[in-house]
Amino acid sequence: MQAHLHMTPAARAQHYAQVFPDYPAPRVDARWLDSVWVLGNNYRGSGIYGAYPPGYIKRVAALFPDARDVLHLFSGSLSANRESLQHPEHWQCDYLDANPELHPTIIGSAEAMPVEDARYDLVLADPPYSVEDAQHYGKPMANRSKVLEEAYRVLRPGGCLLWLDQVLPMYSKAVWHLWGLIAVVRSTNHRVRLLSCFQRPSSLEDHEWVSVAIPGVTRCCRCGMLHIVSDEEEMFFHCGSDGRLRAAVASSPVCTNGRTSP
Ligand SMILES: C[S@@+](CC[C@H](N)C(=O)[O-])C[C@H]1O[C@@H](n2cnc3c(N)ncnc32)[C@H](O)[C@@H]1O
Repeated sequence: MQAHLHMTPAARAQHYAQVFPDYPAPRVDARWLDSVWVLGNNYRGSGIYGAYPPGYIKRVAALFPDARDVLHLFSGSLSANRESLQHPEHWQCDYLDANPELHPTIIGSAEAMPVEDARYDLVLADPPYSVEDAQHYGKPMANRSKVLEEAYRVLRPGGCLLWLDQVLPMYSKAVWHLWGLIAVVRSTNHRVRLLSCFQRPSSLEDHEWVSVAIPGVTRCCRCGMLHIVSDEEEMFFHCGSDGRLRAAVASSPVCTNGRTSP
């Protein structure tokens, strides 16, 4: 089953700007989104060490009105406070945490989730960011690579992983499509976090390359992307909304199946 997600980064940015007309809109092009969210200091949080700043979920929700099945990974206090979370009504959420005292709906390790394959459209992950952080929860530091592997497994093709951390986690470009980065700032003397937006490429939308009349050049008959291989390098180009060719950001970008930014 494919993920319910169907919006381009540009359409997500447009929806976000409608929900938050007073905040700066994300910067987008046909295949990329970046932004800075200044969430401000606010002591209405859950009180748990490392909890999401208030307002964080609402911002994410504004980017994902098309999500239906959502997993909060490393869910911490969220399950116990779910009444006050500002989720869209149609989001069906599960909460996974290793600590049963936090009353997650799924108790288990993020490195080996007791969850069936291809279950979710969207996974929101908030792991401990360091060994020192992990000690606050009485757990060893989670292995990011293992968790990413598991997140890939439980996501439907076309689904997204939003990973909040102090680092951009190591990932394979052959496996994940990184399509956005958002700096999450709370206030002075709080650490700045990075929200990395990944997509599990949709199997239906893989490129279908056909030869064109130029040696070393193929064209995807689904999305129009050009793939050019020379002795020196391999490059991908896509056509921007202004009709000009642009080098693709990723080294093996996924097929957009004809979708472009509005
Ligand atoms: C940064 S906190 C998440 C806080 C959450 N975003 C909130 O707003 O309350 C990290 C959580 O990860 C959990 N945790 C740590 N290691 C884990 C692992 N390997 N698998 C699952 N959960 C883990 C901890 O119990 C803790 O609740």
